[in-house]
Amino acid sequence: MDKVEIGIIGGSGLYAMPGLSGLQEVAIETPFGAPSDAYMVGELDGRKVAFLARHGRGHRITPTELNFRANIWGMKKLGVEYILSVSAVGSLKEEHKPTDFVIPDQFIDRTFARIGTFFGDGVVAHVGFGDPICSVVAKAFETACKEVGVVGKLGGSYVCIEGPQFSTRAESNLYRSWGADVIGMTNLQEAKLAREAEMSYATMAMVTDYDCWREGHDDVTVEQVVAVMHQNSGNAAKVVRAAVAALPKGEKSPFAEAMKFAIMTDKTMIPD
Ligand code: ADE
Repeated sequence: MDKVEIGIIGGSGLYAMPGLSGLQEVAIETPFGAPSDAYMVGELDGRKVAFLARHGRGHRITPTELNFRANIWGMKKLGVEYILSVSAVGSLKEEHKPTDFVIPDQFIDRTFARIGTFFGDGVVAHVGFGDPICSVVAKAFETACKEVGVVGKLGGSYVCIEGPQFSTRAESNLYRSWGADVIGMTNLQEAKLAREAEMSYATMAMVTDYDCWREGHDDVTVEQVVAVMHQNSGNAAKVVRAAVAALPKGEKSPFAEAMKFAIMTDKTMIPD
């Protein structure tokens, strides 16, 4: 199969990618087990893309159960250089309203039960992660939001919690005191693994609720999240489509050599 340059990981609210032509369902086995679902490979306005439903068809996989390594490894196997991720998040600031899109450029890790590296088992690597997302992908999202006419704010910190429960009010207020912008359960490990796999990654976070910190408002519920997601999924798909068109063609990711100096283990001791 020809190299698929662009990967899309769709989260809550984006379970399929409308407009894909010549669709092929590609199941990939990986050394880490199965990805969340088959990759839907096709063309979007002349660009070859692979779409993966993060939580699987029918939303069956919890954030903790996600096989992040398999999902990212599968993208690499297809030849992906740029990953566009979409997810639902809660807002930690008044200014980020439900239905807004935020393209975070930082993460804060509050997870504790996930594997977020391809390394270990005798091979040690430490990759730079000061800038966890790829500015090329983030800019493509920002440009696409403008084109579609929706609010798309570039920059901000995403707190990644373990879930599956939403946060307590004390936690929510703590994250606010840290100056964080949005809260979700899935994107940090994807960003880490994409970097280790030398691919570009950025996420477009769709605000669905104000979490539980906002006085005079009900706490976040799944009902609320789903209602906003449905309202906004058409926009999310339009933005992703425009972002695909805005990505460079035939170019390697700026992170294509991210691991060049990251491996500590003596090369003669690394198994094939
Ligand atoms: N996803 C959508 N809303 C969320 C919230 N408030 N906390 C964590 N993940 C979310």
